[in-house]
Amino acid sequence: MAKLEYAPAPESRSVVSLRPSYGLFVGGEFVDPVDGGAFKTISPSTEEVLAEVAEAGPADVDRAVAAARRAYGRTWSRLSGRERGKYLFRIARIIQERARELAVLETLDNGKPIKESRDVDVPLVAAHFFYYAGWADKLGHAGFGPDPRPLGVAGQIIPWNFPLLMLAWKVAPALAAGNTVVLKPAETTPLTALLFAEICQQADLPPGVVNILTGAGPTGRALVEHPDVDKVAFTGSTEVGRLIAEAVAGSAKKVTLELGGKAANIVFADAPVDQAVEGIVRGVFFNQGHVCCAGTRLLVQESVADVVLTSLKRRLATLRLGDPLDKNTDIGAINSAVQLERIRALADVGEAEGASRWSAPCTLPDRGYWFPPTVFSGVAQTHRIAREEIFGPVLSVLTFRTPKEAVEKANNTPYGLSAGVWTEKGSRILWMAQHLRAGVVWANTFNHFDPGSPFGGYKESGYGREGGRHGLEAYLDV
Ligand code: NAI
Ligand code: MG
Repeated sequence: MAKLEYAPAPESRSVVSLRPSYGLFVGGEFVDPVDGGAFKTISPSTEEVLAEVAEAGPADVDRAVAAARRAYGRTWSRLSGRERGKYLFRIARIIQERARELAVLETLDNGKPIKESRDVDVPLVAAHFFYYAGWADKLGHAGFGPDPRPLGVAGQIIPWNFPLLMLAWKVAPALAAGNTVVLKPAETTPLTALLFAEICQQADLPPGVVNILTGAGPTGRALVEHPDVDKVAFTGSTEVGRLIAEAVAGSAKKVTLELGGKAANIVFADAPVDQAVEGIVRGVFFNQGHVCCAGTRLLVQESVADVVLTSLKRRLATLRLGDPLDKNTDIGAINSAVQLERIRALADVGEAEGASRWSAPCTLPDRGYWFPPTVFSGVAQTHRIAREEIFGPVLSVLTFRTPKEAVEKANNTPYGLSAGVWTEKGSRILWMAQHLRAGVVWANTFNHFDPGSPFGGYKESGYGREGGRHGLEAYLDV
């Protein structure tokens, strides 16, 4: 099918004012790092340097944890839930007011399409703050006793795939429950967290309630190991999740880990094909596949495998890959050179192991990091592309004959974060949901999020739940 030609429709960058360099946000103000370290963050679609950002060392972690401890003891834990809620509502409203600025900055620093940051990420960020603002004065009704207490200081470490949204998932429930936080954004996407720090200032949030430390793995490690941190919350790779679990073992620290996934998206023969194809696309090509709950294993019932695959390829050929700031772009840039290398390496393994590879016909820009939407068919369960998280726009297609076989194949993974089921039959949806070992099971949709609904995994996908009433438990002494 011929691709319609669209005129370029770039979103303006002028709404964002970047500073050449950024300090750390500690005790309510931006400060220089003690050791003076710094690193650059780039736009992955152009490799342009956006800004220089401070690198927090152990002394900075000390300072930030001390600021969070002071704010916890002197103000935040003493405020009534209603007062805390007022600040959270204020933050939520400012996020809405500055939505365009946040979306453009997120797209610049991360490489995701503006239509996603504008229509998905930022609205969900505001929704999370509104949602948990509403809980702040109702904690006694959350099912954890009449007067549940906060934990203290939370050390929070987030990844680069949804920088602001992961910040919201971590900060909003922590603050609502009365904790103070030290948050470390990922090293390739620090800028929206720093803009969020400005929003905290604008909201007059008491100093030290939120502290933002930029840096890479060693900064995260120092935060996790800091003796005055009461709670650790992490989203990222299973590998680092393991290190964190080891680091906190034997301490009184509470920990939640949200790790990888290798979700099955299961299409039965009675599913409406066009709708399922849209769900497959949304399931695995949304955010360049940098999604822990992405539907990376398509399990399609054998009798419709050909028709589904043909429709899918036709649809993928219409996706537009390119400038993430263009409002018509569907597929943006891969977040970093390192991640692109990982995707390339695993895709090559898929080919070497005998699966057949197809990529959507699209021209990749000369600069920046890009990978075309790619589908592997003829994939066996033993193939590495069927077992390992690729975290890129790559789909592995397997087939099944019976519901039982679909469940067995879907559950045959070390992960258990999410799954999808496409069928006309309600009773089958319920049966599948009962038998799939996954934290979230979507029916006739995929990658749908709501602040009111808990999210989290089984097995190597981690433990603990974020979102909803369940998400409060991780920040309360229960
Ligand atoms: P990562 O797990 O290294 O990074 C996530 C965060 O952890 C970043 O803020 C990083 O600075 C921090 N970190 C790194 N080492 C640490 C340590 N020892 N202690 C404390 N914090 C530490 O993930 P990375 O290297 O960016 O991606 C590797 C793979 O992980 C991806 O290919 C993907 O498969 C998976 N991943 C999964 C995510 C998810 O949402 N579940 C998010 C990002 C990556
Ligand atoms: Mg960047």
